[in-house]
Amino acid sequence: MALIDGKAVSAAVKEKVRCEAEGLKAQGIHIGLAVIIVGDDPASRVYVNNKKKACQAVGFDSYEYALPAETTQTELLELVSKLNADKNVDGILCQLPLPRHIDENAIINAIDPAKDVDAFHPQNVGHIMIGDYAFLPCTPAGVMELIASTGVEVKGKNCVVIGRSNIVGKPMAMLLLHEHGTVTITHSRTVDLPRITRNADILVAAVGKANFVTADMIKEGAVVIDVGMNRNAEGKLCGDVDFEGCKDKASYITPVPGGVGPMTIAMLMKNTLTAAKMHNGIN
Ligand code: GUN
Repeated sequence: MALIDGKAVSAAVKEKVRCEAEGLKAQGIHIGLAVIIVGDDPASRVYVNNKKKACQAVGFDSYEYALPAETTQTELLELVSKLNADKNVDGILCQLPLPRHIDENAIINAIDPAKDVDAFHPQNVGHIMIGDYAFLPCTPAGVMELIASTGVEVKGKNCVVIGRSNIVGKPMAMLLLHEHGTVTITHSRTVDLPRITRNADILVAAVGKANFVTADMIKEGAVVIDVGMNRNAEGKLCGDVDFEGCKDKASYITPVPGGVGPMTIAMLMKNTLTAAKMHNGIN
Protein backbone atom coordinates (compact mmCIF):
# COMPACT_ATOMS: atom_id res chain seq x y z
CA MET A 1 0.00 0.00 0.00
CA ALA A 2 1.11 3.54 -0.68
CA LEU A 3 -0.38 6.49 1.11
CA ILE A 4 -1.64 9.38 -1.03
CA ASP A 5 -0.34 12.55 0.58
CA GLY A 6 -3.08 15.15 0.16
CA LYS A 7 -1.08 17.75 2.06
CA ALA A 8 1.85 17.48 -0.36
CA VAL A 9 -0.33 17.50 -3.51
CA SER A 10 -2.39 20.43 -2.22
CA ALA A 11 0.78 22.36 -1.30
CA ALA A 12 2.00 21.96 -4.88
CA VAL A 13 -1.33 23.24 -6.30
CA LYS A 14 -1.36 26.21 -3.91
CA GLU A 15 2.27 27.07 -4.70
CA LYS A 16 1.41 27.28 -8.41
CA VAL A 17 -1.57 29.51 -7.59
CA ARG A 18 0.56 31.69 -5.31
CA CYS A 19 3.16 32.21 -8.06
CA GLU A 20 0.51 33.20 -10.61
CA ALA A 21 -1.22 35.48 -8.11
CA GLU A 22 2.10 37.18 -7.43
CA GLY A 23 2.55 37.82 -11.15
CA LEU A 24 -0.95 39.32 -11.37
CA LYS A 25 -0.32 41.50 -8.33
CA ALA A 26 2.75 42.93 -10.10
CA GLN A 27 0.31 44.03 -12.84
CA GLY A 28 -1.93 45.66 -10.23
CA ILE A 29 -4.50 42.85 -10.15
CA HIS A 30 -5.61 41.88 -6.66
CA ILE A 31 -7.58 38.69 -6.21
CA GLY A 32 -10.47 38.65 -3.71
CA LEU A 33 -12.60 35.85 -2.28
CA ALA A 34 -15.75 36.58 -0.26
CA VAL A 35 -16.76 33.84 2.17
CA ILE A 36 -20.23 33.88 3.72
CA ILE A 37 -21.07 31.86 6.81
CA VAL A 38 -24.53 31.92 8.37
CA GLY A 39 -24.95 30.67 11.94
CA ASP A 40 -22.40 28.97 14.14
CA ASP A 41 -22.04 25.39 12.94
CA PRO A 42 -18.62 24.40 14.37
CA ALA A 43 -17.59 22.29 11.34
CA SER A 44 -18.48 25.16 8.95
CA ARG A 45 -16.47 27.53 11.14
CA VAL A 46 -13.39 25.29 10.82
CA TYR A 47 -13.82 25.06 7.02
CA VAL A 48 -14.23 28.83 6.68
CA ASN A 49 -11.16 29.50 8.83
CA ASN A 50 -9.14 27.09 6.68
CA LYS A 51 -10.35 28.83 3.51
CA LYS A 52 -9.28 32.21 4.91
CA LYS A 53 -5.87 30.82 5.87
CA ALA A 54 -5.42 29.41 2.37
CA CYS A 55 -6.26 32.83 0.87
CA GLN A 56 -3.56 34.39 3.01
CA ALA A 57 -1.04 31.72 1.98
CA VAL A 58 -1.58 32.31 -1.75
CA GLY A 59 -1.81 36.10 -1.49
CA PHE A 60 -5.55 36.64 -2.04
CA ASP A 61 -7.65 39.17 -0.17
CA SER A 62 -10.36 37.40 1.79
CA TYR A 63 -13.58 39.03 2.95
CA GLU A 64 -15.56 37.20 5.60
CA TYR A 65 -19.27 37.78 6.13
CA ALA A 66 -20.26 36.00 9.35
CA LEU A 67 -24.02 36.40 9.70
CA PRO A 68 -26.26 35.38 12.59
CA ALA A 69 -28.39 32.23 12.29
CA GLU A 70 -31.55 34.41 12.20
CA THR A 71 -30.48 36.13 8.97
CA THR A 72 -33.39 36.11 6.53
CA GLN A 73 -33.21 34.80 2.99
CA THR A 74 -33.87 38.33 1.71
CA GLU A 75 -30.94 39.71 3.70
CA LEU A 76 -28.65 36.99 2.40
CA LEU A 77 -29.81 37.59 -1.18
CA GLU A 78 -29.07 41.29 -0.72
CA LEU A 79 -25.53 40.49 0.40
CA VAL A 80 -25.00 38.18 -2.59
CA SER A 81 -26.26 40.91 -4.90
CA LYS A 82 -23.86 43.42 -3.35
CA LEU A 83 -20.93 41.01 -3.73
CA ASN A 84 -21.92 40.25 -7.34
CA ALA A 85 -21.45 43.95 -8.07
CA ASP A 86 -18.26 44.39 -6.02
CA LYS A 87 -15.19 44.79 -8.28
CA ASN A 88 -12.85 43.67 -5.47
CA VAL A 89 -14.60 40.31 -5.23
CA ASP A 90 -13.63 37.67 -7.79
CA GLY A 91 -15.15 34.69 -6.02
CA ILE A 92 -18.18 34.24 -3.76
CA LEU A 93 -18.54 31.20 -1.55
CA CYS A 94 -21.53 30.65 0.70
CA GLN A 95 -20.67 27.91 3.16
CA LEU A 96 -23.26 25.12 3.26
CA PRO A 97 -25.36 23.94 4.98
CA LEU A 98 -27.47 27.06 5.54
CA PRO A 99 -30.06 27.33 8.32
CA ARG A 100 -33.26 25.49 7.39
CA HIS A 101 -35.35 28.64 6.83
CA ILE A 102 -33.11 29.61 3.89
CA ASP A 103 -33.52 27.92 0.51
CA GLU A 104 -29.98 26.91 -0.50
CA ASN A 105 -30.86 26.70 -4.17
CA ALA A 106 -32.22 30.27 -4.14
CA ILE A 107 -28.86 31.50 -2.81
CA ILE A 108 -26.75 29.39 -5.19
CA ASN A 109 -28.86 30.57 -8.14
CA ALA A 110 -28.33 34.21 -7.12
CA ILE A 111 -24.52 34.02 -7.21
CA ASP A 112 -23.06 35.42 -10.44
CA PRO A 113 -21.92 32.27 -12.33
CA ALA A 114 -18.65 34.10 -13.15
CA LYS A 115 -17.95 34.38 -9.39
CA ASP A 116 -19.28 30.93 -8.45
CA VAL A 117 -15.97 29.40 -7.34
CA ASP A 118 -17.75 26.40 -5.79
CA ALA A 119 -19.23 25.60 -9.23
CA PHE A 120 -22.64 25.01 -7.65
CA HIS A 121 -24.70 27.32 -9.93
CA PRO A 122 -26.83 25.33 -12.42
CA GLN A 123 -25.07 27.09 -15.30
CA ASN A 124 -21.68 25.85 -14.07
CA VAL A 125 -23.10 22.41 -13.27
CA GLY A 126 -24.30 22.28 -16.89
CA HIS A 127 -20.82 23.17 -18.12
CA ILE A 128 -19.37 20.34 -16.03
CA MET A 129 -21.88 17.90 -17.51
CA ILE A 130 -20.85 18.90 -21.04
CA GLY A 131 -17.15 18.79 -20.18
CA ASP A 132 -16.51 22.41 -21.12
CA TYR A 133 -15.88 24.25 -17.91
CA ALA A 134 -13.84 27.01 -16.28
CA PHE A 135 -14.69 26.22 -12.67
CA LEU A 136 -13.87 22.80 -11.37
CA PRO A 137 -16.14 21.33 -8.70
CA CYS A 138 -13.60 21.64 -5.85
CA THR A 139 -13.77 18.30 -4.06
CA PRO A 140 -14.11 16.10 -7.18
CA ALA A 141 -11.33 18.07 -8.92
CA GLY A 142 -9.15 17.55 -5.85
CA VAL A 143 -9.83 13.82 -6.02
CA MET A 144 -8.79 13.79 -9.70
CA GLU A 145 -5.49 15.47 -8.75
CA LEU A 146 -4.92 12.83 -6.07
CA ILE A 147 -5.61 10.00 -8.51
CA ALA A 148 -3.25 11.64 -11.06
CA SER A 149 -0.54 11.83 -8.38
CA THR A 150 -0.52 8.02 -8.15
CA GLY A 151 0.26 7.65 -11.86
CA VAL A 152 -2.73 5.29 -12.21
CA GLU A 153 -4.64 6.02 -15.42
CA VAL A 154 -8.42 6.39 -15.17
CA LYS A 155 -8.97 5.44 -18.82
CA GLY A 156 -10.75 2.10 -19.12
CA LYS A 157 -10.86 1.50 -15.37
CA ASN A 158 -13.90 0.48 -13.38
CA CYS A 159 -14.61 3.50 -11.20
CA VAL A 160 -17.22 3.29 -8.46
CA VAL A 161 -18.51 6.34 -6.62
CA ILE A 162 -20.43 5.77 -3.39
CA GLY A 163 -22.75 8.75 -2.89
CA ARG A 164 -24.80 10.88 -5.27
CA SER A 165 -24.73 14.36 -3.76
CA ASN A 166 -24.69 17.44 -5.97
CA ILE A 167 -21.46 18.59 -4.29
CA VAL A 168 -19.45 15.39 -4.60
CA GLY A 169 -21.00 12.19 -6.01
CA LYS A 170 -22.57 13.48 -9.23
CA PRO A 171 -19.76 15.82 -10.38
CA MET A 172 -17.19 13.18 -9.31
CA ALA A 173 -18.77 10.69 -11.68
CA MET A 174 -18.64 13.27 -14.49
CA LEU A 175 -14.94 14.02 -14.04
CA LEU A 176 -14.07 10.30 -14.00
CA LEU A 177 -16.20 9.86 -17.12
CA HIS A 178 -14.38 12.72 -18.87
CA GLU A 179 -11.14 10.83 -18.18
CA HIS A 180 -12.68 7.76 -19.88
CA GLY A 181 -13.41 5.73 -16.76
CA THR A 182 -16.32 3.26 -16.75
CA VAL A 183 -18.31 4.81 -13.95
CA THR A 184 -20.92 3.41 -11.58
CA ILE A 185 -22.69 5.68 -9.11
CA THR A 186 -24.00 3.87 -6.06
CA HIS A 187 -26.12 5.14 -3.15
CA SER A 188 -28.20 4.13 -0.16
CA ARG A 189 -30.76 2.23 -2.29
CA THR A 190 -28.13 0.28 -4.22
CA VAL A 191 -28.71 -3.46 -3.90
CA ASP A 192 -25.68 -5.56 -2.91
CA LEU A 193 -23.21 -2.68 -2.78
CA PRO A 194 -20.17 -4.90 -1.95
CA ARG A 195 -20.66 -6.82 -5.20
CA ILE A 196 -20.25 -3.55 -7.10
CA THR A 197 -17.48 -1.99 -5.02
CA ARG A 198 -15.41 -5.21 -5.21
CA ASN A 199 -15.23 -4.61 -8.96
CA ALA A 200 -13.77 -1.10 -8.56
CA ASP A 201 -10.23 -0.38 -9.70
CA ILE A 202 -10.84 3.14 -8.40
CA LEU A 203 -13.24 3.56 -5.48
CA VAL A 204 -14.38 6.99 -4.26
CA ALA A 205 -16.32 6.96 -0.99
CA ALA A 206 -18.51 9.99 -0.27
CA VAL A 207 -21.14 8.54 2.03
CA GLY A 208 -20.82 10.44 5.29
CA LYS A 209 -20.72 7.31 7.48
CA ALA A 210 -17.68 6.46 9.59
CA ASN A 211 -15.84 3.28 8.51
CA PHE A 212 -18.58 2.36 6.01
CA VAL A 213 -16.20 0.80 3.49
CA THR A 214 -14.61 -2.34 4.91
CA ALA A 215 -11.82 -4.54 3.52
CA ASP A 216 -14.25 -7.17 2.17
CA MET A 217 -15.81 -4.46 -0.05
CA ILE A 218 -12.64 -3.55 -1.94
CA LYS A 219 -10.70 -5.21 -4.72
CA GLU A 220 -7.07 -6.22 -4.15
CA GLY A 221 -4.88 -3.40 -5.52
CA ALA A 222 -7.69 -0.81 -5.79
CA VAL A 223 -7.08 2.94 -5.54
CA VAL A 224 -9.24 4.02 -2.59
CA ILE A 225 -10.19 7.67 -2.14
CA ASP A 226 -11.98 8.67 1.05
CA VAL A 227 -14.01 11.89 0.87
CA GLY A 228 -15.62 11.25 4.27
CA MET A 229 -15.21 13.60 7.21
CA ASN A 230 -16.94 12.03 10.20
CA ARG A 231 -16.49 11.73 13.93
CA ASN A 232 -16.41 8.22 15.38
CA ALA A 233 -17.88 7.18 18.77
CA GLU A 234 -14.79 8.60 20.54
CA GLY A 235 -15.16 11.92 18.72
CA LYS A 236 -12.08 11.29 16.58
CA LEU A 237 -12.08 12.55 12.97
CA CYS A 238 -12.40 9.65 10.55
CA GLY A 239 -13.38 8.98 6.96
CA ASP A 240 -15.89 6.71 5.24
CA VAL A 241 -13.26 4.00 4.80
CA ASP A 242 -11.99 1.64 7.49
CA PHE A 243 -8.42 2.74 6.83
CA GLU A 244 -6.69 0.17 9.04
CA GLY A 245 -8.67 -2.69 7.53
CA CYS A 246 -8.27 -1.54 3.90
CA LYS A 247 -4.74 -0.15 3.80
CA ASP A 248 -2.95 -3.42 3.03
CA LYS A 249 -5.40 -4.45 0.33
CA ALA A 250 -5.42 -1.13 -1.56
CA SER A 251 -2.58 -0.12 -3.88
CA TYR A 252 -3.09 3.53 -2.95
CA ILE A 253 -5.28 5.00 -0.25
CA THR A 254 -5.98 8.47 1.16
CA PRO A 255 -5.82 9.10 4.91
CA VAL A 256 -8.36 11.18 6.85
CA PRO A 257 -7.33 13.81 7.75
CA GLY A 258 -4.62 14.75 5.26
CA GLY A 259 -6.16 13.29 2.11
CA VAL A 260 -9.03 14.88 0.20
CA GLY A 261 -9.70 17.71 2.72
CA PRO A 262 -6.68 19.88 1.89
CA MET A 263 -7.32 19.34 -1.84
CA THR A 264 -10.81 20.88 -1.75
CA ILE A 265 -9.34 24.14 -0.48
CA ALA A 266 -6.44 24.09 -2.94
CA MET A 267 -8.91 23.71 -5.83
CA LEU A 268 -11.00 26.55 -4.43
CA MET A 269 -7.90 28.75 -4.63
CA LYS A 270 -7.35 27.59 -8.21
CA ASN A 271 -10.95 28.47 -9.13
CA THR A 272 -10.63 31.90 -7.53
CA LEU A 273 -7.49 32.55 -9.58
CA THR A 274 -9.36 31.43 -12.72
CA ALA A 275 -12.24 33.79 -11.85
CA ALA A 276 -9.84 36.72 -11.39
CA LYS A 277 -8.17 35.99 -14.73
CA MET A 278 -11.58 35.84 -16.45
CA HIS A 279 -12.65 39.14 -14.87
CA ASN A 280 -9.45 40.78 -16.10
CA GLY A 281 -9.59 39.33 -19.60
CA ILE A 282 -6.56 37.05 -19.08
CA ASN A 283 -6.66 33.49 -20.45
N1 GUN B 1 -20.05 22.55 2.71
C1 GUN B 1 -19.40 21.36 2.61
N2 GUN B 1 -18.58 21.37 1.54
C2 GUN B 1 -18.72 22.58 0.96
C3 GUN B 1 -18.11 23.19 -0.17
O1 GUN B 1 -17.30 22.61 -0.89
N3 GUN B 1 -18.51 24.46 -0.42
C4 GUN B 1 -19.42 25.10 0.32
N4 GUN B 1 -19.76 26.33 -0.02
N5 GUN B 1 -20.00 24.57 1.38
C5 GUN B 1 -19.64 23.32 1.70
